[in-house]
Amino acid sequence: MIWGKIQSVKQGTLLVFQVACRRHSRFAPVTPQPVPPLGQTMQRYLRALEPLLPPDELEHTREMVRLFGQEGGLGERLQQGLEKRARFSHNWISDWWVQWAYLESRQPLAGHSNPAIALPKQDYSDWRGQLMFASKLIAGVLDFKAKVDSGSLPVEYLRGQPLCMELYPLLFSSCRIPGPKHDHVVHYSQARRPPTHITVVRNFQFFQLEVYNSDGTPLTEGQIHAQLCRIRSQSWKTDKEPMGILTSEHRNTWGQAYHRLLRDKINKESVRAIERGIFTLCLDSPVMRISDDKYSSRMAAQMLHGGGTYSNSGNRWFDKTLQFVVGEDGSFGLLYEHATAEGPQIATLLDHVLEYCKQPDSVRAPLIPLPMPKKLYFYIDPEIKRDIEQAKQNLDILINDLDISCFIFRRFGKDFPKQLGLSPNAFIQVALQLAYYRVHSEICASCDSASLRMFRGGRTDIIRSPTSQALQFVCAFDDPSVSREAKVDLLREAVAAYAALTEQALQGQAIDRHLLGLKLQAIEEGLSVPRIFMDTAYGLATHWKLRTGQVPSNTDSVMCFGPLVPDGYAVCYNPQSDHVHFSVTAFNCCEETNAEKLAVTLESALCHLQELLHPAV
Ligand code: COA
Repeated sequence: MIWGKIQSVKQGTLLVFQVACRRHSRFAPVTPQPVPPLGQTMQRYLRALEPLLPPDELEHTREMVRLFGQEGGLGERLQQGLEKRARFSHNWISDWWVQWAYLESRQPLAGHSNPAIALPKQDYSDWRGQLMFASKLIAGVLDFKAKVDSGSLPVEYLRGQPLCMELYPLLFSSCRIPGPKHDHVVHYSQARRPPTHITVVRNFQFFQLEVYNSDGTPLTEGQIHAQLCRIRSQSWKTDKEPMGILTSEHRNTWGQAYHRLLRDKINKESVRAIERGIFTLCLDSPVMRISDDKYSSRMAAQMLHGGGTYSNSGNRWFDKTLQFVVGEDGSFGLLYEHATAEGPQIATLLDHVLEYCKQPDSVRAPLIPLPMPKKLYFYIDPEIKRDIEQAKQNLDILINDLDISCFIFRRFGKDFPKQLGLSPNAFIQVALQLAYYRVHSEICASCDSASLRMFRGGRTDIIRSPTSQALQFVCAFDDPSVSREAKVDLLREAVAAYAALTEQALQGQAIDRHLLGLKLQAIEEGLSVPRIFMDTAYGLATHWKLRTGQVPSNTDSVMCFGPLVPDGYAVCYNPQSDHVHFSVTAFNCCEETNAEKLAVTLESALCHLQELLHPAV
């Protein structure tokens, strides 16, 4: 739970929720997140810099780190502050992390921050199939929510350890709210009378759809279907003004427009209905077809940003925590807002919903007359109209700039490295380092997300992939003078080094959140930012040209998000036993990067690693 920053709906709600969390056994087993020892982090930071910096620069940084970490130095003082913070807070870093990484970021959520998951195309290709599937999906999500609400969702485990389940209740009825300087998140599910509706958006028009009967039971699939048909008949024409596009803007711009928009009472009511809704369902028109081999990339783009203002981008409210996207052509996926949600929880939710959707259709309910879904109206004055026009232009520029390349690597999956005693994630990360090196003739600061959910309120830390061992391996791999045996040894060493870093990160002993904590502790104490964070080495080491993330799932899904820096890539993957789903993104305006080139090179790097380990294959 992000205690410090989440704004409760009513005073006292937060406390009620805290008490409620303690009552559920699912919140019990996890331990507090430790603050790593200062000396250990300093030493590991220098080790992480080794493959990235020339020796003279590294020497300079080494001296700076020594001064910071020495006995009685500034580092020690800040470390004591963090340890005190850890004693008195739910989690010493999560609320700072969410504030710093998400809520203070001013970049648009579309394409930059919100991740999307594209799922396999469903078996229908017209609006009838779309509404049938959407009805089942809504029922499946409500079924999952009922498990969360009753505390009966089974505790999850990673490497035999129970994981913190606190994030699940926050997924529903929550929304990010833009502010002129920073955003905040509102959670309505903890209110005395939690919302009982979802919002449905079709042809850029939003509807409020009640999904519970007056006795608190959820609507049946048949009832939901009847209501969706009514929404369809009310939204046959595209609204001239796609209000949702406003949420794709730069956050300062949207923060100001939000303020203007909510001056009007009708607008305020409509916006609140979207924010309060349990989730949003986006009923999209078909994904524009190009060629079969590009379809999966196009579909991922559709999930991520709606495909453009002439396509489905007006069917999104990017601030909303959960948005399910169901297209008329069978396309299906989910878009989520990152301040509240993490990939693995979303994958669990989707796995549940897809299992639910496999069940045979339920018995039709007697046709009790239901209230008409409520269309949400907006009053658009010239100022708001101008805001929308500006947002449309900016979103189309952003969409044209974001290159997305998805592919399925079919030659092997996670079983291959496992059979050789190698961690699949570490193996893929070394392949990624090799691919990046082959494209750019250098290695770069790269981050892979590791879950901190073994700890109470834990979010993520970073595993830094460019280790000295990875550098040695990628330099040797294409060198014909190095023997095959030596290359195999170097590969195994690189994988082992990565696996060791993974273990450290999962145990809460990685360096990046600790370094961030030390920096923010200095700011909290009113001190100037310590010199080690002003050092060019720190800037280089945190300029994440390669942002990566594994989101494993039981289904053939692929997650996708944009790069963290203008000259970088983002790579997501979902390893299955005999194949791996990948997505690669990069910005077109950067001349050095090319998503497709990295994707193709990654594919061949994986094949070459297999050939190295199994020359006869
Ligand atoms: N030999 C044989 N098998 C091995 C092995 C080895 N040396 N090392 C690992 N394996 C096995 C594991 O037991 C596991 O088996 P399973 O498929 O039966 O479960 C499988 O290989 C996968 O292990 P690995 O590839 O090492 O991954 P992991 O899941 O243990 O850890 C993390 C990878 C760190 C990415 C993951 O645990 C994690 O933290 N995920 C969350 C990431 C996240 O939050 N992303 C959000 C992005 S928005």
